Amino acid sequence: MLLEISDLEVEVEGKKILNGVNLKIAEGETHVLLGPNGAGKSTLFMTILGFPKYEVTKGKIIYKGQDITSLETHERIALGLGVTFQNPPAIRGVKLKDLLKIVDKNEYESNDELDEEVIKLGERLKLNEQFLNRDVNLGFSGGEVKRSELLQLLAQQPDFIMFDEPDSGVDIENVELISKEIINLLDQENDNSKKGGLLITHLGYILRFVNATHAHVLIDGKITRTGDPEEIMSDIRKSGFGEA
Ligand SMILES: Nc1ncnc2c1ncn2[C@@H]1O[C@H](COP(=O)(O)OP(=O)(O)OP(=O)(O)O)[C@@H](O)[C@H]1O
Ligand SMILES: [Mg+2]
Repeated sequence: MLLEISDLEVEVEGKKILNGVNLKIAEGETHVLLGPNGAGKSTLFMTILGFPKYEVTKGKIIYKGQDITSLETHERIALGLGVTFQNPPAIRGVKLKDLLKIVDKNEYESNDELDEEVIKLGERLKLNEQFLNRDVNLGFSGGEVKRSELLQLLAQQPDFIMFDEPDSGVDIENVELISKEIINLLDQENDNSKKGGLLITHLGYILRFVNATHAHVLIDGKITRTGDPEEIMSDIRKSGFGEA
């Protein structure tokens, strides 16, 4: 098992947001998390990452067999957790290229070689060298922010990856492009993939490309249904979250 969450209750600034979440994700699986605005989806991600504002009042988070519930965020990242944020902040004074060079943990013979590698990764997401020299997220368009988030994962190569609405605000052509890279990151074309993923989407279009193995519906901080992604998505389209 890659990730095991049991009976998780979380408060943010004194307000209870997650209300007993249970979730198990094994290697090779990609789960999709569905639910209305404000249900607690992003809160679950932030809690798995260990952001200090998100206080675990009950339950635990086990990652690769280790209890990570009280680890610092940087320690969790070092264990192989990765994320694309729904609304990442702009970082004035930090070039995207330099951030990519920091998160890339591969061994390189020289700085030039690392430079070249980062530029190649950028090209995969249609972000050229001039773009990589801009400050992280500063003035990036909505779609550029999403591709930049994914690019950081390509450099980081985490084992368990959470994608918070990677498709929102992204045009149709770019949804195909980012889907391709999500498939690569999760090693979905390999039957023995050791990676795992958790993906939040409202649109579902991305699921035409990315292969989700399980779906969960989160309502009011609780998972109310788990099952086949296509079936659940189709029920939500027909009758909304009430019936799902
Ligand atoms: N700092 C905070 N103080 C109080 N409430 C908060 C705080 N941060 C988040 N919340 C509340 O927690 C609830 C869950 O928010 P969350 O961002 O997890 O929802 P979500 O399911 O990701 O929604 P969306 O689909 O709109 O992204 C919301 O009602 C939100 O207003
Ligand atoms: Mg959210």
